[in-house]
Amino acid sequence: MIAVTPLPLKSLHESAADLAVLCFEDAGPAGVKALPAKEKAALAAALKAEGFKGGAKEVARVEFEAFGRRRRVWAVGLGKRRSATSETFRRAAGALLGAVRAKRSALAVLCAEHPQAVAEGLALASYKYEEYKKEDADALTAAHLLIQDAASRGALEKACAKAALAAEAVALARDLVNRGPSDKTPKSLADLAETFKGAGVSVTVIDKKKAEELGMGSFLGVARGSAQPPAMVHMVYTPKAATKKRVAIVGKGITFDSGGLSLKPAASMEDMKCDMAGAAAVIAVFKVIARLAPKAEVHGIFAATYNMPGPDAYKPGDVLKAMNGKTIEVWNTDAEGRLALADALCLAVKQEPQAIVDMATLTGAVVVALGSKVTGLMGNDRRLVAQISGAAKRADEPVCELPLVADYKENIKGNIAELLNISKVKGEAGSIIAGLFLQEFVDGRPWVHLDIAGTAFWSGDGPYGPKGGTGQPVRTLLEWLAAL
Ligand code: BES
Ligand code: MN
Ligand code: ZN
Repeated sequence: MIAVTPLPLKSLHESAADLAVLCFEDAGPAGVKALPAKEKAALAAALKAEGFKGGAKEVARVEFEAFGRRRRVWAVGLGKRRSATSETFRRAAGALLGAVRAKRSALAVLCAEHPQAVAEGLALASYKYEEYKKEDADALTAAHLLIQDAASRGALEKACAKAALAAEAVALARDLVNRGPSDKTPKSLADLAETFKGAGVSVTVIDKKKAEELGMGSFLGVARGSAQPPAMVHMVYTPKAATKKRVAIVGKGITFDSGGLSLKPAASMEDMKCDMAGAAAVIAVFKVIARLAPKAEVHGIFAATYNMPGPDAYKPGDVLKAMNGKTIEVWNTDAEGRLALADALCLAVKQEPQAIVDMATLTGAVVVALGSKVTGLMGNDRRLVAQISGAAKRADEPVCELPLVADYKENIKGNIAELLNISKVKGEAGSIIAGLFLQEFVDGRPWVHLDIAGTAFWSGDGPYGPKGGTGQPVRTLLEWLAAL
């Protein structure tokens, strides 16, 4: 991944970097005011000659005398000014990176609006997954945002620093999601978490034996079918300044979801290495949390286990008991995420946080309802729902709230235990049912659940990243934590 750093406009004289401008369809290049008159006129003439309109995704390359040398200049369209948002700029930066990466070694982007989004777009688009094979090397090694005047310097520096932090976290989440399932055992994820120890972060790994002692029967039930032992990981970030604020982020970490004895068909299993994306988001946040330095104590918990149909696998009809004493009748071993999360949420509740946010690739139903571009959000507290929705909006990671309709609780009442792990009524409100199930384990604390089954992993390339793990909802979490 490339670094995006600020560069004073004047320094372009000493640099052979290509110049880039982002252009509105109806208002010309953004931030063009900063250009000297000669460069401004040359740019306008060159873009006109090229027939460049500035429509969204349009990319043009021109060449003219600029800042002391004949220089390549890239123009990327933003569409109409009124409809342009921070996401428009992030995507334009992604498109620009895609056009330039193979050709040029350095790029300097004229950027007056949404600098953080532009820096993120450039960095995230340059991400490659290379744990198993090297991709063709990029020519591009550095990208800059141009500082236009002394007044904007601080803001631009801050934007680049925030973007670098977000990109680093997202890249780790993507790497972990993209990794082959046998290469990301619960133990290896726990070991990775332990490397974050120090500088405000402590880590406790709850192994199988400790989980038994703590009564995590729901999580352990899922783990029974796998030869690899499970791990419940608990990280804590403590800020330097004393605080009464305490929050928990909780991730589903199914390192592969075969469905267990309720085995998935082959096609449905293909992408199930992504079933630990919630845990990946928690791990990614903790990689950078000391540098993010939120003003709250943050607990990061993830429940890592395979869901396999091994010889001792849990079976439909089994009754599991979670850490809070609730009993659960298992009707389908493929509804395992909510079982693993039940104990992770109980552990979160024990920390007495004022807010709990969980992330989980929980239901295929959320993909039916919202597709791959919108995360399903559910919650029991209007204030927290508003906070997380706001953070998601600022991060441009779309969410849509689904209602936790209490009437549906009837559908998960057990015959011989308190709860069922799937609904008695087939084909209805699958994501809400899963949310209602999770709600049974938060003990009434403010809580939001993000169902990322559609958004965490894409089978096609995105506007600023390759197919595979997307890193969602890492940037939303960073936005939320930074604002606490
Ligand atoms: N991990 C899956 C959900 C999933 C589906 C994630 C597609 C990513 C993409 C989850 O454990 C699961 O299997 N859910 C079942 C629940 C059902 C048995 C009630 C589902 O959605 O079919
Ligand atoms: Mn499943
Ligand atoms: Zn699953």
